[in-house]
Amino acid sequence: MIRARIAGVGGYLPERLVTNDELARTVDTSDEWIVARTGIRQRHLAGPHESCAFMATRAAEGALRRAGVEAGEVDAIILATATPDEAFPSTAVYVQAALGLATGFAFDVSAACSGFIYALAAADAMIRVGTIRTALVIGSEVYSRILNWQDRTTCVLFGDGAGAVLLQAAEGGPGIISTHLHANGGLAGLLYVDGAVGQPERSGQLVMKGQEVFRHAVSKLAAVVDEALSANGLTQADVDWLVPHQANRRIIDAMGRKLGLPPERVVVTVDRHANTSAASIPLALAEAVEDGRIRPGHLVLMEALGGGLTWGSALVRF
Ligand code: ACO
Repeated sequence: MIRARIAGVGGYLPERLVTNDELARTVDTSDEWIVARTGIRQRHLAGPHESCAFMATRAAEGALRRAGVEAGEVDAIILATATPDEAFPSTAVYVQAALGLATGFAFDVSAACSGFIYALAAADAMIRVGTIRTALVIGSEVYSRILNWQDRTTCVLFGDGAGAVLLQAAEGGPGIISTHLHANGGLAGLLYVDGAVGQPERSGQLVMKGQEVFRHAVSKLAAVVDEALSANGLTQADVDWLVPHQANRRIIDAMGRKLGLPPERVVVTVDRHANTSAASIPLALAEAVEDGRIRPGHLVLMEALGGGLTWGSALVRF
């Protein structure tokens, strides 16, 4: 049986670091409120040169380097983003060009904060059926461009960054065990960007009903965690690490408790990165693999919920 193995991980964070205190100088908020309600202490914000493609390329280069794979071996680049550099072409083709590639194919995936799980599921399916053997799956986001910096209910929550994994086909052994995707477009009004390119009458900014998103996140993520375990005949006790989407410390803690995992078995970056949407899971994964917490043999559960609403999970043996 062919499986998609995670052979390398990489991440990129913008140079500029912005603390809660710094934000509190321009918007009516405080470090105390942000930390208590979200767990966020700081975020990285992209400078003019740190485009979606630039950050994605840096993350992809890290994943290739750690996998010991040449860019020329990559068959597909699948990039999840809600903040592409242009409406078209995809940001993925700019990454392809920046890596010096003119072979294979590249496309973007739009599923907001669930984008990385969606992109991983697409790459996994193509590897399993033999369409491709090697894929870069990337999440890259520049939410600083779509935030209303006067709206304290949203602007304090997000950050910029990129993360990537290099997937390779392998016979049996470790790899992606299963992915589970969901969407309910009837809930689109809870979290969206108002407008698209060529609509100057719209704001182009993120709109969120935070409390309702929070409620859906806790119930839908709990269900998707159960779904992933029962689909594979596994129990909570089998999971070594939870690598959740990093939206809010309270949602992350609720999922850790749901799995019966001690806090030290849950990878948390929301305190330092804030919510980097599709980039948050691969960034967290890159950190925990690089510092040696996640090791070969470990079973890792990833889950995310975002605009759409979209949600899903991926169960991976390292
Ligand atoms: N600083 C100070 N006060 C604030 C701030 C702020 N930054 N933001 C809101 N407040 C105030 C509100 O105005 C309100 O005041 P009021 O009681 O006088 O009206 C009070 O704080 C409480 O506001 P709530 O919205 O009830 O706060 P809550 O505890 O629900 O936290 C939050 C808000 C952090 C947004 C939370 O609801 C949340 O995390 N929601 C989920 C977001 C999420 O998961 N998104 C995931 C997907 S993201 C994606 O897909 C792009």
